[in-house]
Amino acid sequence: MKVVPLMELVQEKINSLYKKINTHNYRYYVLDDPHISDSEYDDLIQQLETLEKENPGLITPDSPTQRVGAEPLSEFKTLTHTVPMLSLANAKNKDELIAFDERVKKSLEEEGNLEYMGEPKLDGLGVEAVYENGLFSYGSTRGDGMTGEDITLNLRTIRGLPLKLREEELPVPNLLEVRGEVFITKKGFEGLNIFREKNSEPIFANPRNAAAGSLRQLDPSVTSQRPLSVFFYQPGMVEGISFKSQDKFIECAKKWGLPINPHVKRLYGIDESVLYYEEMELKRNRLPYEIDGIVLKVNSFHNQDILGTRSRSPRWAIAGKFKAQQATTVILDIEVQVGRTGAVTPVARLKPVEIGGVTVSNATLHNQDEIKKKDIRIGDTVFLERAGDVIPKVVKVVMEKRPLESLPFILPNKCPVCSQSLFKPEEEAIYRCQNVSCLAQVKGRIQHFSSKNAMDIEGLGQRIVEQFVDEGLLKSVDGIFSLKKEDLVKLEGMGEKSADNLFDSIDHSKNTTFPRFLYALGIRNVGEHLSKVFAKEFKCDFNNFMKANVEHLAGIQEVGPIVADCVVRFWENPKNRSVVNA
Ligand code: IVH
Repeated sequence: MKVVPLMELVQEKINSLYKKINTHNYRYYVLDDPHISDSEYDDLIQQLETLEKENPGLITPDSPTQRVGAEPLSEFKTLTHTVPMLSLANAKNKDELIAFDERVKKSLEEEGNLEYMGEPKLDGLGVEAVYENGLFSYGSTRGDGMTGEDITLNLRTIRGLPLKLREEELPVPNLLEVRGEVFITKKGFEGLNIFREKNSEPIFANPRNAAAGSLRQLDPSVTSQRPLSVFFYQPGMVEGISFKSQDKFIECAKKWGLPINPHVKRLYGIDESVLYYEEMELKRNRLPYEIDGIVLKVNSFHNQDILGTRSRSPRWAIAGKFKAQQATTVILDIEVQVGRTGAVTPVARLKPVEIGGVTVSNATLHNQDEIKKKDIRIGDTVFLERAGDVIPKVVKVVMEKRPLESLPFILPNKCPVCSQSLFKPEEEAIYRCQNVSCLAQVKGRIQHFSSKNAMDIEGLGQRIVEQFVDEGLLKSVDGIFSLKKEDLVKLEGMGEKSADNLFDSIDHSKNTTFPRFLYALGIRNVGEHLSKVFAKEFKCDFNNFMKANVEHLAGIQEVGPIVADCVVRFWENPKNRSVVNA
């Protein structure tokens, strides 16, 4: 019998874990098709960490556990790029893209259609990663294009960046310099800012600043806590393989496991390219990360060489910029709104202005702290920004344009609707009206109840709800089901036909699902997703759900003690129970 030494067995196990983890990384970051859950992935990492702890001699630098290892730096070293990292010339619109195509065709003496690569232009930070014999060896920021900062340790912490290139489909070259963009997704950005706000740290103005701030950390363990991602898009110096075109480079990069933006597309001729530009602008707000345009690159590297470069940008590529999502306008008034949970929010009424093709006339000012911090006043000219699909926000006041007589804006200390004193919970930045019978809250709850993703009662929109409540026809959510036709038809603007339609949709809504109904009740912190979680747990039985105690609720996966507490407190109020019974 052959005895395999223990060390060899451990090494084998470690190798097999490396392989598994790297394959799952590839599936997740490159193919966007994960085959295991996050917790199963974490479990593999954990197994590897345990083995490595017991056998420190077997740890190699490309181990998936070795993303953060080093001590903080005292400063960044500078690195010189072997091939300068150029910038891009801009086209502001479709006509300028067409002009670019004409210039290119003229230089190449080409009459027919040219092949281009269309790529989203991510709004992050340009970086370079260098792989030697397939191993990630160092990386840098773009800097001034000639020299950048050595951010090797920070780049290592980015989970999507392979520490070792895959060799399964294609041998790795001796040297591969790749350029790409490091960025933070819109979600990652929001989460990061919520976390920072909780810890009283200054929040980042936008995802780009957040990514930049995270990459410039001298302590890689801080960077590793930031939700950074990367997409690669350009080769630098390469030895051991040569590419004929940008699409061939992209194809190889994917095989080596480098993350590539899924919207990269080969385009035939300028017509297709302009269409791509227009389509990406339409898709822009639905992407999980911010882009500020597209990049068109002449596909053939031979043609790129003929075209050459200017001092700072290549002649073979251009950035097609999208319409700005920023504008300046004037604050006409600041109104104070009361939501269904009693939250009091100041809203700026703006002189209508177009941002990225949408007319904007309101912007939330969040709370008193925000108004004070930015010193926002009625009459001010402000700089607005619409980031992604979110509501426009006031970035800052243009102080030079402030009217002489303006005064600081201070929120009232009484509810503007019911005049009760407002209350500010210690852990929150907003003031709340605590009067559950406040008409603003009643209206808000009814509107939420009938909204599309809740009970979906067509015809019971904001205007009608306000009218019903103001006329005293509706006092609470359950009142919807005892509305009388003779009362409705007396109302201004409500004919026989619209009343019938409304009753039809109310009737229709009675046939709803457990999660929709639960969501409609508007229990704090119970959104659409958790409503589904509860539906599953209680097998759609409302009686059981209403009986559940905090321990039971908090024990359900995805439900924490805060949510459990909100649910139990909701049922403690007999009025809420009677709504359900009704
Ligand atoms: S190619 C030689 N491709 O835009 C070509 N750049 O204004 C230069 N960027 O510094 C880069 N997405 O940080 C290229 N798909 C993409 C890009 C991209 C974003 C950034 C990059 C560059 C800047 C140029």
